[in-house]
Amino acid sequence: MLHLRDLQPADAATIATWIDSLDALILWSGKSGFTWPFAGEQLLALRAADSDRRLLVATDPAGAVIGHFSLRPVDDDSAVRLGLVLVAPYARGKGYGAAMVAAALDTAFADPDVSRVTLGVYAHNTGARRLYERLGFREERVYESSIEVGGKWWTSVTMGLVREAWEAGR
Ligand SMILES: CC(C)(COP(=O)(O)OP(=O)(O)OC[C@H]1O[C@@H](n2cnc3c(N)ncnc32)[C@H](O)[C@@H]1OP(=O)(O)O)[C@@H](O)C(=O)NCCC(=O)NCCS
Repeated sequence: MLHLRDLQPADAATIATWIDSLDALILWSGKSGFTWPFAGEQLLALRAADSDRRLLVATDPAGAVIGHFSLRPVDDDSAVRLGLVLVAPYARGKGYGAAMVAAALDTAFADPDVSRVTLGVYAHNTGARRLYERLGFREERVYESSIEVGGKWWTSVTMGLVREAWEAGR
């Protein structure tokens, strides 16, 4: 079972060790403004600069931090943007990512005023896209040449999940 809690300063340094390249940084954080080499202080600075954004971590049954994500109100608080989804490299492929995103959705939709959750994912991040699709997210828009990383342009995709679809899939 996963447990969620708000990120504490010491967690940020742990999460930074999971980002081992510029590509990994952008794949995870998109246009959040993080720079390579990445350090945990950047995560704390993001939270300090945006008090609406909640940073959460997922812990495994032993209490070790194995995942991270953020939730941010958008569209006049009628929607929540899920972002910064990350599972520790050594913990991937074991179902933690799906369990964590499902728990993130439970957290977001716990507010009855929230009617949808949205996210952005890069088109070539096929594993993450499949994970989101299995949880009910559907593709909404494609942005060609969204960002240039190491001389290559990446396409991004926005996905959305409406409350009705989330409830139907529970
Ligand atoms: C995307 C990510 C969070 C998934 O976490 P995870 O713990 O590996 O995911 P799960 O083990 O729950 O996998 C759930 C499903 O997602 C898919 N999936 C996840 N990662 C995958 C990968 N690297 N390759 C292929 N499929 C993948 C699979 O369909 C899997 O289904 P399965 O049960 O048939 O294996 C993790 O790979 C990660 O942190 N990636 C780097 C950061 C990132 O890309 N974040 C998303 C930004 S939008």
